[in-house]
Amino acid sequence: MSISRVIAVFSTKGGVGKTTTAVNLAWQAAADGSRVLLWDLDPQAAATWLLSVRQKLRGGASAVLSGDRSIAKAVRESSIDGVDVVPADATYRGLDIVLDGAKRSSTRLARALKPLRGDYDVIVLDCPPGASLVAENAIDAADVVVAPLSPSLISLRSFDQVRALIADQGGGASLVAFLTMVDRRKKSHREAVAELPSRVPEITDIVVPFSVLAERMGERHAAIGAFAPRSGAARAYAALWHRVAHA
Ligand SMILES: Nc1ncnc2c1ncn2[C@@H]1O[C@H](COP(=O)(O)OP(=O)(O)O)[C@@H](O)[C@H]1O
Ligand SMILES: [Mg+2]
Repeated sequence: MSISRVIAVFSTKGGVGKTTTAVNLAWQAAADGSRVLLWDLDPQAAATWLLSVRQKLRGGASAVLSGDRSIAKAVRESSIDGVDVVPADATYRGLDIVLDGAKRSSTRLARALKPLRGDYDVIVLDCPPGASLVAENAIDAADVVVAPLSPSLISLRSFDQVRALIADQGGGASLVAFLTMVDRRKKSHREAVAELPSRVPEITDIVVPFSVLAERMGERHAAIGAFAPRSGAARAYAALWHRVAHA
């Protein structure tokens, strides 16, 4: 891929597999030969930890977003070949306040990324949950918004919220949603798999199964594809990457 592509992994819900998805997509992109940057925008720092990078306590995320400091200084190498990271920063907790005070506050993140666009083919944004100014900034910067959904009909509600946020930001980003943590022994999960992708065009038929391999990423500090390439979860993420790369 010659033009750099920004992918925001986002949902209004927490615990739906955003970080797991961000790390697996980043690995998959790097495995395809792309130069990848993952920016951990969640102060919980789960992606930073998964990728064996030290969280910054006061690294000046707000300075990066206000334009006072170059993002290049915040970039670190990760435990995944070909994937660099901008680690989460404790000051992100106050980011919404910083952005609120800034002019053109939902375009700050896109502007901060600009100097890096020649250095990376793919930039993955691991977003915190919720409809925050950070989310607006990430969606504004994104070419593609990837939204993991839990396998229940109620997840249509969070899907609608994500779609509304994209529309609020001008609708420039394409949306790729998919079901994850699917346990086909459960009737409600089977119903969601059968109904949601056929009912909503943006919900792909790619299904990431519920898998202990997701938890194991934390022991290995690696993506599932690196240590269990033939698993259903690794194959699903490979298919998702393919879809996202061509969205
Ligand atoms: N496909 C999956 N199967 C089983 N557990 C998963 C799966 N995907 C993620 N998890 C687990 O669910 C929890 C939340 O996932 P995470 O990616 O951190 O969500 P979020 O970033 O949306 O809060 C983590 O403990 C993670 O290991
Ligand atoms: Mg997360």
